Amino acid sequence: MTFWLRADTNTNLTFCFFVVFVIYPPSTKASLFCNFFFSSFSRVSPTEELELTFALKQQNIHMLEETLRLVSDPDSSRYGKHLSLDEVASLVRPSQLTQKVVHHWLQSHGITNCQTVHTQDFLQCTMTAKVAETLLPGSRFHRYIRDGQSVLRSSGPYSVHDDVHQHLDFVGGLHRLPPKGKDLSKASSERLKTGVHLGVTPTILRSRYNLSTTDVGTAQNNSQAVAQFLEQYYHPADLAEFMSLYGGGFKHRSAVDRVVGKQGGGKAGIEASLDIEYIMSTGANVSTWFFTNPGRHESQEPFLQWMVLLSNMSDLPWVHTISYGDDEDSLSVAYMMRINTEFMKAGVRGISLLFASGDSGAGCKHTGSKQNTFRPSFPASSPYVTTVGGTSFKNPFKVTYEVTDYISGGGFSNVFTMPDYQISAVNGYMKTVAASLPPQSYYNASGRAYPDMAALSDNYWVVINRVPTPWVSGTSASTPVVGGMLSLINDQRLLKGLSPLGFLNPRLYKLKGQALFDVTEGCHLACLDEQVQGKGFCAAPSWDPVTGWGTPDYPALLSALLDN
Ligand SMILES: *[C@@H]1O[C@H](CO)[C@@H](O)[C@H](O)[C@H]1NC(C)=O
Ligand SMILES: *[C@@H]1O[C@H](CO)[C@@H](O)[C@H](O)[C@H]1NC(C)=O
Ligand SMILES: *[C@@H]1O[C@H](CO)[C@@H](O)[C@H](O)[C@H]1NC(C)=O
Ligand SMILES: *[C@@H]1O[C@H](CO)[C@@H](O)[C@H](O)[C@H]1NC(C)=O
Ligand SMILES: *[C@@H]1O[C@H](CO)[C@@H](O)[C@H](O)[C@H]1NC(C)=O
Repeated sequence: MTFWLRADTNTNLTFCFFVVFVIYPPSTKASLFCNFFFSSFSRVSPTEELELTFALKQQNIHMLEETLRLVSDPDSSRYGKHLSLDEVASLVRPSQLTQKVVHHWLQSHGITNCQTVHTQDFLQCTMTAKVAETLLPGSRFHRYIRDGQSVLRSSGPYSVHDDVHQHLDFVGGLHRLPPKGKDLSKASSERLKTGVHLGVTPTILRSRYNLSTTDVGTAQNNSQAVAQFLEQYYHPADLAEFMSLYGGGFKHRSAVDRVVGKQGGGKAGIEASLDIEYIMSTGANVSTWFFTNPGRHESQEPFLQWMVLLSNMSDLPWVHTISYGDDEDSLSVAYMMRINTEFMKAGVRGISLLFASGDSGAGCKHTGSKQNTFRPSFPASSPYVTTVGGTSFKNPFKVTYEVTDYISGGGFSNVFTMPDYQISAVNGYMKTVAASLPPQSYYNASGRAYPDMAALSDNYWVVINRVPTPWVSGTSASTPVVGGMLSLINDQRLLKGLSPLGFLNPRLYKLKGQALFDVTEGCHLACLDEQVQGKGFCAAPSWDPVTGWGTPDYPALLSALLDN
C-alpha cells in the first residue's frame, strides 16, 4: 500500500491512498482512493485501545450460493424455504482448524478481549495500538479528524503471517474510511436552474405508483429498516412533522419502532431524514427500524459493523434499504467477495437488501492521459442485492410517465460476473441498442449489470431540522420508496401464510417487466471526454442499465408476486 498526501490550497490535506490487503498480494489490484479531506492527523499513542474485525474464512460458500439460488427461484420446489440464522451458522461456520489457528494467533499476542458472532465467522477484538502493530507487521495507526469526526486507521500496509493468512479473508478497521457523504443539497441547487417543479411528496408517489388508501401494512410481524453509516441521524420530531404535513390520506406510523446502534446528537442529516420519511410513506403502517452507525469505537467501519450485526441478530426486518456505496476500484477484491457472501447469508434468510445505484450515472475513471472508463460502484454491483436507479417525471409539473434521471447510477461490474438470472435481459438490451452503445473499452460487458429497477429520484420534499425542504434528489430517495412497496407485498404474503420475498432478483427478472412501468427515454451521465461526451448508457424498451426493468405499478406487482 502506498500512502500519499499533499497539501491543497486551503492547507487541508488530501489523502490519496491505495487500498491493498497484503493478505491477497498478487491478485489484488491497487487503486487510487482519494475522496477525503482531513483537517488533521496524528500518530496514535501505543497504549491507546482500538478494535479490529477479523473476517474468518467460511465453509460451504458454494452450497450457500446454491441454496440462495433455490430459495429465490420461484420455479424451484425450495422457493421461499428460507434458513434460520442457526441453519446459516451451521452451513458457513469456519472449520475447527480455522478457528483454532486464529484464536491461537490472537492469544499468543495477548489478545483475549474478543467477541464473536452467531455464525462465528467474524471476530472483533480490542487491543492496544502497540499490540495491533506487532500483530500486523507494517501497520502504523494514526488518528484522522474529518468534519469533527475522529477515526483511527493505519497508514502502512500490513501483513499477516503465512500460517494465519489462509484462514482470514481480511482484517477490518485498518484502512478503509467511511466514504464521504455526498452532498445532496449541492446536487439539488444545480437542478434549481431547471425551474419550478411539482415536488415529490408521499401523495404524489402513492398516486404515481397506484397505491390506494388501503394499501398499508397490517401483518403483525412485518417490519422494514433503513441503514445509515455516514454519521447521519434523523430526528423523531422531523418524522412526526413530515407525517403531519404530508401523511394525509393513508394510515401511517409517525415514529420508528426500534433504533439499533447509537444515534448521535446534533443536526439531522438529509439522507437519514429522507430515507426514514419515505420508506414509511410507501411502506405505510409497517413497523420500521433504523440502523445507525453501530460502531462503538472509532476504529470501526460502520458498514462492516452493520454486516457483523446481521450475522448476530436472529430477529431482523425483512426489507433493508441502504444508500451507500464506494467505487469498486477503491476496494480490495477480497473485501468485496466477502461482503458479497454476507449478502448471500442475508438472502437465504429471506431478507431483501436494496441498495441505491448511485448518483453519478455510469461514473468516470481516468486511466491514462486521454483514456477513460466508466466506474461501477459497490455494493450496487453485487449480484446478490437489488439495486435501485432513478427517474424523473417527463413533465416536471405533472404526474406523468417517467424518464431517466440523468444521475441514475448504472453499468457493469468489473469484479462480479453476470449472474444467470439477468443474462437474457442484458443480451436483449445489447441487441436493441447495439448501434448506440458506448465504446466497449469503457465497460465490461461480462460483468453483473445494474440497476434492477427504479423509482422517482428527483425533487423530493423532506422535513429536516423542523423545516420542510424541497429539491432533495438522488437514488437515495428512490431506494426507500421501492423498499416500502416491497414491504407491503411482504405484508400481503405473510397474511396469506407465504414466505417473505427475500432475494428478489431471480423472480423480478422472470417477470420480464410485467407489473413495472418501463422507462424508455433518456440517458445517464458519464465521462466528459471527446469519445462519450458525457453520455453513458441510455434507457430502452425492457431492461436497461440505467433504470433496470422500470418502476413499480404497485397493484400489478403485488398480484404478480402473491401466488407462490
Ligand atoms: C453477538 O451477540 C452476543 C449475544 O447474543 C454478544 O454476546 C456478542 O458480543 C455479539 N457479538 C458482537 C461482535 O457484537
Ligand atoms: C396505474 O397507474 C397508471 C399510470 O399512473 C394508470 O394509467 C393506471 O390506470 C393505474 N392502474 C390502476 C389499476 O389504478
Ligand atoms: C396497522 O398495523 C397494525 C399491525 O402492526 C394493525 O394491527 C393495524 O390494523 C394496521 N392499521 C390499519 C389501518 O390497517
Ligand atoms: C416480531 O414480533 C415480536 C413480538 O412482538 C417482536 O419482539 C419482534 O421484534 C418482531 N420482529 C420483527 C423483525 O419485527
Ligand atoms: C471484467 O469482468 C470480469 C468478471 O466479470 C473480470 O474477471 C475481468 O477482470 C474484468 N475486466 C476488467 C478489464 O476489469
